[in-house]
Amino acid sequence: MVEVINGKKLAEEITGKIKAETARLLETHGIRPGLAVIIIGDDPASQIYVASKNREAERCGFFSITHQLEANTCEDNLIHLIQELNDDPFIHGILVQLPLPKQIRAESVIQVISPNKDVDGFHYINVGKLATGTHDGFIPCTPAGGMMMIRRIHGDDLSGLDVVIVGRSNIVGKPMANLLLATNATITIAHSRTSELPDVVRSADILVVAIGQPEIVKGDWIKPGATVIDVGINRVPAPKNSKNPIRLVGDVEFEMASIVAKNITPVPGGVGPMTIAMLMANTLKAACRFAGVTAPEFR
Ligand code: GUN
Repeated sequence: MVEVINGKKLAEEITGKIKAETARLLETHGIRPGLAVIIIGDDPASQIYVASKNREAERCGFFSITHQLEANTCEDNLIHLIQELNDDPFIHGILVQLPLPKQIRAESVIQVISPNKDVDGFHYINVGKLATGTHDGFIPCTPAGGMMMIRRIHGDDLSGLDVVIVGRSNIVGKPMANLLLATNATITIAHSRTSELPDVVRSADILVVAIGQPEIVKGDWIKPGATVIDVGINRVPAPKNSKNPIRLVGDVEFEMASIVAKNITPVPGGVGPMTIAMLMANTLKAACRFAGVTAPEFR
């Protein structure tokens, strides 16, 4: 019988701990963690994500501010805002919601964020720390959330297990591979140009899918008994007569995969809430560092 991994419940558990630690930091050091989110343009999916990051930050007891910029904002404007936030003592975490409009180069903008406030873990300093196994950087939120789910099922040591990651993005695939390598798993990174993808996927004891294509991974690609972490959140048209015209689905065909897998994350309610919880954890960590106190571990 498949176990559906309840990301909402696990995220709630982490948020509860963050709330308590936030109250303690405020009481002992007079510091309230501050998160600034910058969003450019009006992409509906990004607007929803940013609103839930904001809501969750407030629930944790953080100071939270969203900077909404026009879709035609130039790179210099954005860089100027980031520099102001870098210098703002009330802001400990800065996040620029991706994707960005075409006139802005994400890579160059991200490098302007102070590595100490880079709660997304996208700055080269934090990427390099993760890649070299240096543990005092920020880890990207989605892979951190996925790893927590994997650890709850398989423990800390994945020696002998074969993991397949489908997707090679800087946001998920590559950092996920580094995190998994550190747990002794054997990793394959597959992507859109991989040949015989179903066979590669079928070799996975643990499968992580992050390619952003609705239900591309079919149930019969899954190895019986595998753990499936579905990172995709795809908006597709809902069946006629549904209340909401849009339905969310993952990158994995959930119903069919559930017949074969032992553990699987649902969409929604799987990795999504974990990403937001890990963003809160990173922001608290940044604020603790600013205060010169040891940050709590979230495992
Ligand atoms: N867009 C999709 N995922 C992410 C994320 O983890 N961080 C940011 N900043 N933008 C995203």
